[in-house]
Amino acid sequence: MNNEIEPILVGEIDDIEVGTVEDFEHEDNNFAIYRLDTGFFSTQGNCNCEDRAPLSEAEIDGEELECVGCSNTYSIVSGDCISQPELDGLRIYDITEEDGNIYLNL
Ligand code: FES
Repeated sequence: MNNEIEPILVGEIDDIEVGTVEDFEHEDNNFAIYRLDTGFFSTQGNCNCEDRAPLSEAEIDGEELECVGCSNTYSIVSGDCISQPELDGLRIYDITEEDGNIYLNL
């Protein structure tokens, strides 16, 4: 079994405006890539509940997102559901910047 972290090139830093989110696909998996004032963050690409709304369409407010599906709010940093803390959080992924590029570390 290979447990090594594999950095995946997402794109250039300037591809994403501050305060916005983009979708990113890698090997049939969807991710949402956020650029906030505090840096880059990544979560799973679709929300947890049955609507499976794309998180790249979420409203961003500071470090929180509001899903367009059922309007739940989540922390982009921790993945925790803020509006209904009993719900499962979003999976979050490590993301790094290097030489003007951003990488997902999967
Ligand atoms: S799809 Fe229901 S809160 Fe996101």
